[in-house]
Amino acid sequence: MSKDTLHLMLDEATILARIDAMAQEIDAFYNGEPLVVICVLKGGFMFFTDLVRRLRCGPELDFIGLSSYGYGDSSGGTITLTKDVSMPLEGKHVLVVEDIIDTGHSMRHLLEHLHARRARSVRLATLLDKHERREVPVPVDFTGFSVNDGFIVGYGLDYAERYRELPALYTVETRAATE
Ligand code: IMP
Ligand code: MG
Repeated sequence: MSKDTLHLMLDEATILARIDAMAQEIDAFYNGEPLVVICVLKGGFMFFTDLVRRLRCGPELDFIGLSSYGYGDSSGGTITLTKDVSMPLEGKHVLVVEDIIDTGHSMRHLLEHLHARRARSVRLATLLDKHERREVPVPVDFTGFSVNDGFIVGYGLDYAERYRELPALYTVETRAATE
């Protein structure tokens, strides 16, 4: 059994209210232009699901897999594409949906990959932005919440592949840190 301690950071109602507003902002921004919304797996899955069901613009949906962290909470340093998108993006407006931007390395890598697919535009929506930890600049177009330090789990985000299923966001005090 895990002895990690979770501290509630944002409850489900607060998260969903913010996503309601983000969906309206995104609809207004694209103003009926055809849009492809891309979920960054795995962490983005829950945010993506709640966001796209609130969009009124009738987007196409696709998924991309990115693995940037080792098994735990420290950066592995290497970024691997575990799954590519399955539809052509050439000439299309693309909105990438990510769970959290931390150092920015993963997103930088992914945005370059998508630009190389000759999308008409590539924009980024992230639920959480740890902007104080940025090491490389990343243009974030739609942000849910700005957060400071602390490792966050729940609502898609994991610590060593756990806690993704939780409907709210928590900071985690890991067992190693509390021993
Ligand atoms: P970056 O390349 O440092 O920006 O890392 C981004 C990725 O690291 C995110 O997509 C997450 O998968 C993971 N990550 C960064 N911070 C956290 C956190 O606080 N909790 C869970 N995952 C995180
Ligand atoms: Mg992760």
